[in-house]
Amino acid sequence: MSASERSSGHRSPARRAAELREQLNRHAYLYYVLDAPEIPDAEYDRLFQELQAIEAAHAELVTPDSPTQRVGGTVLAGFAAVRHTVPMLSIRTETDTSEDGARDFDARIRRELELADGDPPVEYACELKFDGLAISLRYERGVLVQAATRGDGETGEDVTQNIRTIGQVPLRLQGVEPPVFEVRGEVYMRRGDFEALNERQRQRIAQGAKGEKTFVNPRNAAAGAVRQLDPAIAAQRPLSFFAYGVGEVRSWPMPKTHGGLLDALAAMGLPVCAERAVVRGADGLVRFHREVGARRDALPFDIDGVVYKVNAIALQERLGFVTREPRWAVAHKYPAQEQMTVVRGIDVQVGRTGKLTPVAKLEPVFVGGTTVSNATLHNEDETRRKDVRVGDTVIVRRAGDVIPEVVAVVAERRPRDAGRPFDLHKLLHGRCPVCGSAIVREEGEADWRCTGGLFCAAQRKQAILHFASRRAMDIEGLGDKLVDQLVDGEIIRTLPELYKLGVAKLAALERMGEKSAANLVAALEASMRTTLERFLLALGIRLVGEATAKDLARQFGSLDRIMDAPLDELQAVPDVGPVVAQSIRTFFDQRHNREVVEQLRAAGLRWDEHEGRRRHAAPQPLAGKTFVLTGALPTLSREDAKSLLEAAGAKVAGSVSKKTDYVVAGEAAGSKLDKARELGVAVLDEAGMRAMLAER
Ligand code: IVH
Repeated sequence: MSASERSSGHRSPARRAAELREQLNRHAYLYYVLDAPEIPDAEYDRLFQELQAIEAAHAELVTPDSPTQRVGGTVLAGFAAVRHTVPMLSIRTETDTSEDGARDFDARIRRELELADGDPPVEYACELKFDGLAISLRYERGVLVQAATRGDGETGEDVTQNIRTIGQVPLRLQGVEPPVFEVRGEVYMRRGDFEALNERQRQRIAQGAKGEKTFVNPRNAAAGAVRQLDPAIAAQRPLSFFAYGVGEVRSWPMPKTHGGLLDALAAMGLPVCAERAVVRGADGLVRFHREVGARRDALPFDIDGVVYKVNAIALQERLGFVTREPRWAVAHKYPAQEQMTVVRGIDVQVGRTGKLTPVAKLEPVFVGGTTVSNATLHNEDETRRKDVRVGDTVIVRRAGDVIPEVVAVVAERRPRDAGRPFDLHKLLHGRCPVCGSAIVREEGEADWRCTGGLFCAAQRKQAILHFASRRAMDIEGLGDKLVDQLVDGEIIRTLPELYKLGVAKLAALERMGEKSAANLVAALEASMRTTLERFLLALGIRLVGEATAKDLARQFGSLDRIMDAPLDELQAVPDVGPVVAQSIRTFFDQRHNREVVEQLRAAGLRWDEHEGRRRHAAPQPLAGKTFVLTGALPTLSREDAKSLLEAAGAKVAGSVSKKTDYVVAGEAAGSKLDKARELGVAVLDEAGMRAMLAER
């Protein structure tokens, strides 16, 4: 019986429902806003189902702040109009992306406030300018009752059903119940969520789904989801929210500063972006703009600038408005992440597994902070759907560390002599552009592939890089420049030949001295003693990643057994379905792949055949215990400590929660150690951990 079940005994359904609502809303806050869940998803689901069951039996117990009300609702014919009692304003945009943009704003504010040169600097609250769409959330007595878009600023649309599906939007404010409290903020989509959504869409389109499309950028995807009439579809679009201000507020003491207001919003359980600061004067603004600019690519969402707001609310009131814009705020831009340019040609690149990716060769353009001259077109269907042709003017997007992509064609700029609609097979005359092998596109697949395998130089290069990568054979010093030379110079044709490289041959290459050559040879030798799972991963079998390699090694224990396993035996491995099983079979059914394996074994590669299994079968003294590693341990790397713990049956988790049994802390341990102390979780050092492993 779980703790919550125990506490549910002899409670009236109404009391129990109220208790569950409160617990679920708190866990949603911990999960979505703080990103620090305290209970596993399964436990949340269990509580949720319990509440659903009570509400099904007692319809009168359903409240608007019940988490069961987030999803569901009916398909609408249209959105009702919502009049904003306090208009939703916009802010003036400073397009001068240099520091002058910030200095001009400060100078203007000082002028308006009639400050003399000798007067102290003005204090500003600095925030990010989120690239999504503005939403007003209306809370009455602490409960979310309505969500509306900005519309023309006076009248927006009622999108409550869709906004409710956003886990980060609290259904009830924490600790306050003013009669009316309107929160203003931005609904946006995180970059990772956007990429995953588009990838899913591309798969659907490849499988023949009708009426599906990919989205141009996270902003459009977010706007589309908010204005989706079917809330079930909106719920599948992963949206996020940041609060940055208030609208109508009744009977709530307004803080004296904007910074104080944001802190108060955060305390109510609203997501407020942590990237904010209160600074003094123009120098403070310039520093904020510069620092955020340097981190822009690393943020998990798009921003198109930062926002400066005069911090003191009294000064804001003195400054007032010009038409629809406050005089006390400005948005200071960064260079755009989308630009227009012209397609000079379309090339096709060959990936490690032979995947053929069309790439637009562009008139170089400065976008998202760098000059871009290539942008991915993803695959043939995408290219045709967007109808990208040589000569077209296109919009290119480069955001974060995501590779640049062509998002759309500017139709009215198509020249008369633009190229023909894209046809990958025709363009390549059915042959791989690198090795000339036949290309194929299987039914239900989005990609064309080269059938050349390791005969293809492009695939060979990437296969070598993959083989040498840290999680595979871990050969330090074998980077892409070197691999280019080795393959292009025909110094190595197959993976096994790597192990025949001598210091003399390597030292003769560009940018290779005696010393680096000797280091590489040593690294190659060191890599020869490996594990079956690393070796399996290193082979680069399509769809066999780290987890599958580990499971295969564990299940079969020997390479020969895997190489000869029929499909049904392969499918008996956890998470191996028919497609992965077929991919493994296809790989080992090819004679040249088997030869590569034999030659590698002949070159001296060794692993303990039954290691994975023995370990699995060995007693597991730490089974059921969850560990978290933090900081640098004196002798063990993070990976080695993890392997030792896992070998003893322990689970190694990434974050500390009430479920954590032990935290192993090393040098410079940070917030995880604080969290452990806060929750009273036992803390060990490396010696303590070793003692525990030995003891058992
Ligand atoms: S404040 C009175 N703060 O930018 C000022 N707006 O034209 C009201 N935006 O549509 C807006 N990030 O959706 C403010 N940190 C931020 C913002 C922000 C993005 C959007 C907002 C509005 C537009 C302003």
